[in-house]
Amino acid sequence: MEMNKSLLCTLCIVLCTLLSACKGPNNGEDPEIKPQEDTIPADTEINVSPTTRPEQYRPQVHYTPLHNWSNDPNGLFYKDGVWNLYYQFNPNGIECDFGGMSWGHASSTDLMHWQEKPTVLYPDWMGAMYSGCSVVDHENKAGFGNGAVLAFYTASGEKQVICLAVSTDGGETFWKYDHNPIVPSTGLANFRDPKVVWDAQRGRWTMLVARGWDLGAEIWHSYNLMNWEFDGIFRVNIERCNMSQWECCDLLYFEQANKWVAVVSINPNGYITGSSTMYFVGNFDGVTFTPDEDEYPRWLDYGADCYAGVTFDNAPDSRKVMIAWMNNWDYAPGCPPSAWKGAYTLPRELSLRYKGNHWVLCSEPVVELGVVANPWQEAATEMMNIGGDYADAWEARITVSLAKDATIKLSNKYGNQYVITVNAGQRRIYCDRGGKTGESNFSTLFSVPSMSAPIEGNEQYITLDVVVDQSSVELFAGEGSTCFTNTVYPRSIYRNIEVEGEVTELKVRTLETIWK
Ligand code: FRU
Repeated sequence: MEMNKSLLCTLCIVLCTLLSACKGPNNGEDPEIKPQEDTIPADTEINVSPTTRPEQYRPQVHYTPLHNWSNDPNGLFYKDGVWNLYYQFNPNGIECDFGGMSWGHASSTDLMHWQEKPTVLYPDWMGAMYSGCSVVDHENKAGFGNGAVLAFYTASGEKQVICLAVSTDGGETFWKYDHNPIVPSTGLANFRDPKVVWDAQRGRWTMLVARGWDLGAEIWHSYNLMNWEFDGIFRVNIERCNMSQWECCDLLYFEQANKWVAVVSINPNGYITGSSTMYFVGNFDGVTFTPDEDEYPRWLDYGADCYAGVTFDNAPDSRKVMIAWMNNWDYAPGCPPSAWKGAYTLPRELSLRYKGNHWVLCSEPVVELGVVANPWQEAATEMMNIGGDYADAWEARITVSLAKDATIKLSNKYGNQYVITVNAGQRRIYCDRGGKTGESNFSTLFSVPSMSAPIEGNEQYITLDVVVDQSSVELFAGEGSTCFTNTVYPRSIYRNIEVEGEVTELKVRTLETIWK
């Protein structure tokens, strides 16, 4: 008996050794940790802290799944101190596989550090798991218990229908409702991306559903999240907008302004190229959204890489926190090779401000960015080699007079550069996301040397907040009233900033990686 035991042990050890040797050349270690080894020039510096993921282009303060393809953020909600982010995800690979679209998951307690979690929704006989939203049912209106989380997703099969999945463990796992779909097909080929919002004025929920190429969004309402009634279709004077398919919408109420804002993502033919997000300021009577008759549409972000943005349900203090996909359908599948494909913008705080003679939907990085920030350092007009040994990411705050033109040049030692120009005469901001920014020839649609947007209001000075990560530059100007989010693929992160113009303030702070 004793001999048998020790023989068994020896056999086990041999088997384990054999199995671990079979794990491949990396001996069981993450095989994709340096996915581009062959394509990165040998002398390229990837100056990120030692404890991070040392991959070229890997964002250090923006969420990216460890591996695989991802696009739209989905089902954002906050509950019990935790921010939950789901997203369109291919659990099987780096390709955009619409048939296999699932909901990936990550959560955070500070909106900056994210923990990747198991995938929560996989395709079924009704179709792939396309975009949608979540709602926290505090008062058990739906009957799944107090605080149950209800996810409304698109099942994209032969037809697109709106389905329900329920979580009673705070969003860790979901089960699909037996009697799906919860909102049946209207016969349209494109009927997707439900967004459910609480309408406090009428004490009920409103759901927007995008109608794709029909260029409109359906409005439904419900008192219990289970039975939905059709109210009508939100349309605008489409000749004034870019004629492109409507996707991912949102509806926000700003109490102080007593205004509603409808947010509509469109693709292709956006503001710059491919995918962009329009918004309309107006009024909503519970059934009909009526945009104000000014010069709509306005654009949430004038850059090329801020798409399908939606806000969190149940955020504390009525905060309106939005996360968008930091990419563009024009070129996303062809972006330079990496272990992941698809990053997310910084979470942004949305506010509605009156600028000049109209309301503007402003976006600014959430205050939680401070969690990863080191103290500000003042400079006169330039700062070189930001971060010294390690530049995970950084932020600059620049104030210039609008009596004179100004330029802000971000660059690295390889000659890659990203230039922002403030044209005082035109009162416009320009961003050059052209061939000099870094790798750009992976798509003919990527290079856009001259993106421009108006400066809102009548102020004589403007403050620009610039967040630079390994493969993105986000610009929030004029209290977030003019924003540009752009991906870039420089050989290494831009580490120099040079400002020309009548500069009244230039300060820089480094941001610590979230991969620690
Ligand atoms: C927007 C979108 C949605 C759709 C999802 C599919 O980027 O096209 O309309 O639900 O992506 O992944």
